[in-house]
Amino acid sequence: MFLTRAKPLLPRGLYGRAALILILPVVLLQLFVSVSFVQRHYEGVTEQMTRSILYDLGLVTEELAAAPSLAAAQLRAGELGRALQIAIALPVADAPAEDWRQPWDLSARVVTEMAGAALPGFTAISFQDKRRVRLWLSTERGEMRVTFRRTRVSASNPHQLLLWTIVFGLLFAMIAYAFLRSQLRPIKRLAAAASAYGKGRVLPYRPGGAVEVHQAGQAFVDMRDRIEAQREARVLMLSGISHDLRTPLTRLHLGLELMSEEEAEPLRRDVRDMERMVAAFLDFARGDSGDVEEEVQPAELLARAAEDAARGGGAVTLGESPALGPARLRPMAIRRALGNLIGNALRHGKEVRLSLEAGEGWLAFVVEDDGPGIPEAQREEAMRPFARLDPARSQSPGDVGGAGVGLGLAIVDDIARSHGGRLVLGTSALGGLRAEMRIAR
Ligand SMILES: Nc1ncnc2c1ncn2[C@@H]1O[C@H](COP(=O)(O)OP(=O)(O)OP(=O)(O)O)[C@@H](O)[C@H]1O
Ligand SMILES: [Mg+2]
Repeated sequence: MFLTRAKPLLPRGLYGRAALILILPVVLLQLFVSVSFVQRHYEGVTEQMTRSILYDLGLVTEELAAAPSLAAAQLRAGELGRALQIAIALPVADAPAEDWRQPWDLSARVVTEMAGAALPGFTAISFQDKRRVRLWLSTERGEMRVTFRRTRVSASNPHQLLLWTIVFGLLFAMIAYAFLRSQLRPIKRLAAAASAYGKGRVLPYRPGGAVEVHQAGQAFVDMRDRIEAQREARVLMLSGISHDLRTPLTRLHLGLELMSEEEAEPLRRDVRDMERMVAAFLDFARGDSGDVEEEVQPAELLARAAEDAARGGGAVTLGESPALGPARLRPMAIRRALGNLIGNALRHGKEVRLSLEAGEGWLAFVVEDDGPGIPEAQREEAMRPFARLDPARSQSPGDVGGAGVGLGLAIVDDIARSHGGRLVLGTSALGGLRAEMRIAR
């Protein structure tokens, strides 16, 4: 309850939270100990010391009252003063109207209260002089002033204790912080390695730190290795199959050359289709490996993709795009992905529009067309490898684009994910499909 309400106030970072958990109890403990120590011990000592000097003063007043004359009293005051280390002046007329002490002087307050309560004839007390206390009493022989050293009523300064507490507290907090940093560093390294891998980058990382952190780090490394191994296996398998298919295909080509034209034509078309499929498998298997990350202008990449499509005879226009700075990405892979999306758009629609979009931490390449689009329920399915919706349409023998393999969107999604994003399909304002390839920035 308290924690949920205090949540917005709590530090969000690990350092801040750990420091709070570490330092808060220590500070509270210190405060509690200091305050109770100052109150109990310090005030107690002051009270005891004050009581003893008040006895002395009581003795002095009694003795002076018993003296037969003022001169005798003054003489006796001199003797007593020397013995008790108190300067006594009698009679005087300099008693202040009010007590004088610093507002923060705790022990002075205790002394004042005790003197007022225990000394008959007490009129005023002054702590104006830091070293000496002056106290006025009215006696039968007139106003009397006694002066004694401040150290007789106050223990040495309590502020020193607080000061040392703060100094050592800070010192130990600094040492603790240094230790804390070394404990938190492995967690930050793990976070960095994990988020980089999410964006398709494999950072060098070695598990370290406390047992639990080490375990989490090791688990991450194992997981990453397994994913990498699976990827490699996929590449190996698909490229193996494609490679092995190429040899019989070449032989078929040669065989077809020897056949008559009208017999050979439909077979030749089949062989061409197969070759295209093999090329697509290879493409998918390759993923975006071998392509290096570069700083590029996304707008330039998009314009280049539009040019390529226009060269192939497609009606591609560039839509409105926000001005964006350069982004780190693998340009070959992005171009391949754009090529796939534009190819789909041209196959299903007549008009194709390319644009860019950007948001907090991401940017998107958007390809829209005016074709039939994909119904919402089938969008997930369309992105799966080897998924062809309406196979009759895309595999009809007269199809100019040729039979699709069903890998295009899967490749695009793969490339987007290796850039820390994904492919999002929607409906375009043009009426057809809107394919948005988001990547992390
Ligand atoms: N722009 C689009 N408009 C309508 N349907 C589309 C569009 N793009 C893709 N599709 C549908 O989604 C399916 C999957 O597309 P994908 O690009 O993955 O495969 P393909 O185009 O059939 O084959 P490939 O791209 O591998 O040659 C297509 O078969 C098609 O039915
Ligand atoms: Mg396609």
